[in-house]
Amino acid sequence: MASKNCIIETKGLVKKFDNFEAVKDVSLCINEGEIFGLLGPNGAGKTTFLSVLATTLQANGGSAMVNGFDVSKSPDGVRKSIGMSFQDNSLDIDLTAKENLWFHCRMYHIPENQINEKISQALKLADLEQFADREIKKYSGGMKRRLEIVRALMHEPKILFLDEPTLGLDPQTRRALWEKIKQLNQEKGMTIILTTHYMEEANELCDRIAIIDKGRIVALGTSQELKKSVKGDVITLETRNNQAFAGKKFKFVKNTKLHNGEISLTVDSAEKRITEIVLFAKKSKIQIDNINLKKPSLEDVFLHFTGKTIREAELSAEGQFAERFKASKPELRAR
Ligand SMILES: Nc1ncnc2c1ncn2[C@@H]1O[C@H](COP(=O)(O)OP(=O)(O)OP(=O)(O)O)[C@@H](O)[C@H]1O
Ligand SMILES: [Mg+2]
Repeated sequence: MASKNCIIETKGLVKKFDNFEAVKDVSLCINEGEIFGLLGPNGAGKTTFLSVLATTLQANGGSAMVNGFDVSKSPDGVRKSIGMSFQDNSLDIDLTAKENLWFHCRMYHIPENQINEKISQALKLADLEQFADREIKKYSGGMKRRLEIVRALMHEPKILFLDEPTLGLDPQTRRALWEKIKQLNQEKGMTIILTTHYMEEANELCDRIAIIDKGRIVALGTSQELKKSVKGDVITLETRNNQAFAGKKFKFVKNTKLHNGEISLTVDSAEKRITEIVLFAKKSKIQIDNINLKKPSLEDVFLHFTGKTIREAELSAEGQFAERFKASKPELRAR
């Protein structure tokens, strides 16, 4: 039984690929009607987690309930409750938009006499009416994303999964899509779970955000709550001797992180501390090339909980993937 108000609830969910745990012990409650974001770098396990919820992958441990259905015992109930827009294009590029939508309706057994009306509504919602008969291979990336999203809605699911809905889109198209997503949530009361590695997207769109790193949820809350958990402002410095600088134990510094050629110092009331920092640099003859003061952002939250920036996390995940790949294909080790 799912707990009260959790339209999705996972307990200790685990998904392995051979011995590698892509999703590690994830316990989450997603409330009905919220836009919930899974924010994490490449390889964090976002798509894998969604795929288990969408029943396209089977978990190796733990449990997941979606709209009252157990993903392992009642996959059909789950599938009827959800719509999914995939990270990679899943439209048939040789067919037109209308034809793609028609296929989807047939797959979901939408009655024949309702199909034309559904297709018109979907094309209207995606602002693609004038391109209805154009083949998908002639669509732009943004047009494809919009079509995928409205296609996922045609059988009127209670829950919508959007895997990287705006990946690779220009800022203007991204904003337009955010508006559509908000509209769906507000007008239809649809619960939306999206994955993203764009901080701004999570910040702008999501009621609550779970930060996922290496298959684990490392923090969860509203954007405001997460930023508050960093407790303090962040002073970022680039100096000619970051090691020596980071070695200085200022009494007022709560946390020091060295990353990416920069030092981040977490402090209260940064404005008041800048002078002391600059004086120390002067006394120690360490040249400061850049100094920056800011209130916590989601990037800082990520750094706080994982010890790396999201980009660093991506690079490290790529490295680990290459190692695993080599280990599974010994003939590549020699290269
Ligand atoms: N079918 C598979 N077989 C083996 N390993 C896999 C498979 N699918 C995913 N993985 C691994 O599981 C981990 C999580 O992958 P996943 O695609 O869920 O990450 P993600 O957070 O969605 O990343 P991205 O932001 O790049 O989409 C990665 O290390 C990936 O290499
Ligand atoms: Mg993914």
